[in-house]
Amino acid sequence: MTIKKSLSTLTSSSLLLLLAALPTAAVYAEDCSDEEQSVRSITGRCNNLLNPNWGVAWDIDAEAGGEAIADGIFGRFETAEYVDAANRVSPRDAIANPVIASTDLLRIEQDAERQWSHTNLLLVYMMQFVTHDIALTVSPPADPLALNAGLGVEQDASGRDFLLGGRSVDYLDDNGIPQQYNGASAFLDLSSTYGPTDVISNALRSFEGGLLKTVERSTFTFNHRNTPSRDICDCVDVNTGEPWNMFNEDLSNADQVFVQSAPGFIPEPFPHLGKCVSPAASFGQAFVPGVGLVPATPGVYSCPNAVLGLPPMLLENVFCAINYAAINDPSRSSFSWTVPDGIDWMPFVSETSPPVPFDELSASTNDPSKAFAAGDLRATENLGITAIQNLWLREHNRNARRIAAQQLGLTDEEIFQKARAWTIGVYQNVVMNELLPMIVGNKAYKKAGLDKPYRDSNYDPTIDPRTGNSFAAAAMRFGHSMVSNDVYPLDPETFSRIPTDQKQLPANYFGSNSPSKDAAPWIHLGAAAQSTAFAPVDEMMAFIGAQIPSGSPPDAAIIAGLVNSRAQRVDRYAEIAINDIDISNCFSGDVSISVPAFSVFRGRSHGIPSYHGLLEAWTDSSIYGRKNCPAPAAGQEYDPLACFEYIVGTDDPAYTARMRNTFKRLDLIDPFVGLTIESEQVCKHCDDGLKKGRDKRNKNAKQGIVGVTSAAIIADQFSRSRGGDRFWFENSSNGWSHGELADIRSTTLKDLIALHFPSTRAKLAGFDNVLLGKTTLN
Ligand code: HEM
Repeated sequence: MTIKKSLSTLTSSSLLLLLAALPTAAVYAEDCSDEEQSVRSITGRCNNLLNPNWGVAWDIDAEAGGEAIADGIFGRFETAEYVDAANRVSPRDAIANPVIASTDLLRIEQDAERQWSHTNLLLVYMMQFVTHDIALTVSPPADPLALNAGLGVEQDASGRDFLLGGRSVDYLDDNGIPQQYNGASAFLDLSSTYGPTDVISNALRSFEGGLLKTVERSTFTFNHRNTPSRDICDCVDVNTGEPWNMFNEDLSNADQVFVQSAPGFIPEPFPHLGKCVSPAASFGQAFVPGVGLVPATPGVYSCPNAVLGLPPMLLENVFCAINYAAINDPSRSSFSWTVPDGIDWMPFVSETSPPVPFDELSASTNDPSKAFAAGDLRATENLGITAIQNLWLREHNRNARRIAAQQLGLTDEEIFQKARAWTIGVYQNVVMNELLPMIVGNKAYKKAGLDKPYRDSNYDPTIDPRTGNSFAAAAMRFGHSMVSNDVYPLDPETFSRIPTDQKQLPANYFGSNSPSKDAAPWIHLGAAAQSTAFAPVDEMMAFIGAQIPSGSPPDAAIIAGLVNSRAQRVDRYAEIAINDIDISNCFSGDVSISVPAFSVFRGRSHGIPSYHGLLEAWTDSSIYGRKNCPAPAAGQEYDPLACFEYIVGTDDPAYTARMRNTFKRLDLIDPFVGLTIESEQVCKHCDDGLKKGRDKRNKNAKQGIVGVTSAAIIADQFSRSRGGDRFWFENSSNGWSHGELADIRSTTLKDLIALHFPSTRAKLAGFDNVLLGKTTLN
């Protein structure tokens, strides 16, 4: 089954006849206001007038107001695979725990040979940005390093502990199938910049001249004594003086759990599993489905327990403080960097009023006066994405200023909406024409009809624009295999490394597996930059900004580093920065986090079919039935080795045997694992950085970088993002003049980088394609 088959069988012309036959009121849903009908809403609501809630961002605040619970879910385009849907049990749960199913199979040691892609890290983090625009699983592990809820521990094959968990917020539909919420709107509408809800969006707007808020003037400081580490690591039992470990506490009889904390923390409760203490932060009060409004009391952590109706429990003997110890190293210097006049920079949360909801990841400092505010809570997930957030903020404000100057007398709202529509148009064009062909390759791009010029008739209201569950929980996670342990920010004017005699930022603030914990002669960002949930982003910006010889801004240095760093190949390996993050000093004992293990866990609890199930659903092909690989008989435990060779290849029999030992059968391979391994076949010969195809549109896009199954799922997603978006930038209903549309279409990512990080301009001139990895500087 391909997605096309699962959607409407109506052709465009039969659809037009149908629409013509319907009375206007039926076509234009009664609950869509005139404004929603004519202007793209922030939440995505009423983009589709036949199904106004298709693609809408699930809004926890709206839920509190009593909206229907089924709005804002991921699209389920395959049959859900559960053995026990009510308890979210996957058939794969019986095979191997998520750590064994992923971490052991995907781990690459730091010094092992790296498989380079011809693409660079700018492509990787741009795709992460696009992901964040259209997918936000409503679950604390969307900010997983918050370590905050329902977490459990599973062991790898050697008995090492890995932290896992955080069930997604979902509900059972009428057929008893769990459906998961998407906290982002499904449309390519820059919700990471403008916010997924009206509350967040309004908090980000200045309401003057159509502009988004920026910091007027702000100084970022890196001080060797004031860098806090994550709070959960720093809880102690005040009676014994021993570190407090939430896993040792029996919280099963508590409705909510409070522990005392240092001032400055405000809790964000989530409805999770049995044991739960949340150090995450939010403002005021939060609505928790099934629980109701929960007050957020400064100075305590709280989290409702799954056992409802019992009184809150105050752990008076536990005190969690900001820990300065991790970086309290007098040999580090202090640095500061000030945003120069005229540069738009994301504001701090404390500079937005009403404040944008403050979350653990936007709050990597745990301090609203130092955490960047954006439309997406993952805006500071790593330094690369933080710089990209600045890019789109700057592009909006540039357009707002230009429009205000060209069309005098427009109101703030008019300028904002015109600038927003233009900026979204530029973004949609970059995503569709620059990024996507490089990801999926020409074949899948063409098969999805994306190579053909857009016509108004491409808009089809029967196309379901929702972000696919298997897209978010599996296929689009390919980037996790491309992340590299280290990035060197470069002087943007020279594209050369930035010399330093300073001790480097610790790669993570907890553990010992830090690639950059030792002094190095160049500024060098290890896992800290890849997972800034561990480190305050403003301080890292100060550390870099203060040492760039040309005095260029630190985010330009980061962009220069991404452009010049080749990405890892999409393959069976995920590097230590993402696959084995040591958080030992949070807990007594050796504990790590693996993002691939989270992905396996997520795929199972979301009922995503196995790798082979996805292959069959999306490519109309099957490995079963090929030579020496018959479909398994009822109760058959193992598939023949030959079945596994079809995805792993024949050149690594030991690995193929490990795969078979772990999963036993093809139809039990977890989708994230199978899709990344399948992908490595695509690009076996493109690690010379010079791969060329023949496509006129993008000569580097011949094969793409992901396997056939991922390519089909991803291409279909973006095809629906285009065909199911009433406001797609090329649709004539936007009212662009011929010249305006040509301007939008001709703006490339390279133009945007040169515009918004002007110190990179001279060096960028030598680049044909700003997404190709020229050098291996990481
Ligand atoms: C340093 C870089 C990155 C880190 C630390 C990171 C980390 C994470 C984590 C922890 C999750 C949640 C896992 C779960 O609980 O299910 C996640 C989700 C996800 N990531 Fe990444 N990621 C990174 C880069 C990327 C890139 C480059 C891409 C794509 C090219 C990507 C695509 C996704 C997708 C699609 C999701 C699911 C989003 C949702 O539905 O909420 N990530 N990532």
